[in-house]
Amino acid sequence: PFTGCIQGALDLVKPNHFKIWPLSSLCRFHVNLQCGSKEKPDVALHFNPRYDDSRHHVACNTMLCSKWGPEERKYYTPMTQGERFTLMFLVNRDTYSVIVNGVHFMEYLHRMSFTGVDTIFVHGEVEIDSIAFSNPAVTVSI
Ligand code: GAL
Repeated sequence: PFTGCIQGALDLVKPNHFKIWPLSSLCRFHVNLQCGSKEKPDVALHFNPRYDDSRHHVACNTMLCSKWGPEERKYYTPMTQGERFTLMFLVNRDTYSVIVNGVHFMEYLHRMSFTGVDTIFVHGEVEIDSIAFSNPAVTVSI
């Protein structure tokens, strides 16, 4: 698991993105763009590839006041289990864009303001090499 603080507020004035270099992922993992690191924080974007379901898919959701909203699923996983990939999240006015291996994968409409998001949390069966933040430009090697 990795919990990292996003330094400085997310805004649209400067480009904002997070890039993650996982080594491999196995069963299921998630990346949360969330507000703080307490238990059950508000989660603006929960990005959750699941390979343990008979139909591999990626589930995305938002948690507000400890409650999940409706899940958005894509029955397609652009990364291959056990292989290295890159994951990038772009913060846009209306959406987060998720880019996998440099290719656009999905848009997720904001269900809460991204301005409260200050933490990135990664958990599950995934090994992470490093995470980079564009604003300010910082790379954290794990
Ligand atoms: C639940 C799962 C949570 C989270 C949520 C998202 O079924 O237990 O970890 O992924 O779905 O909708």
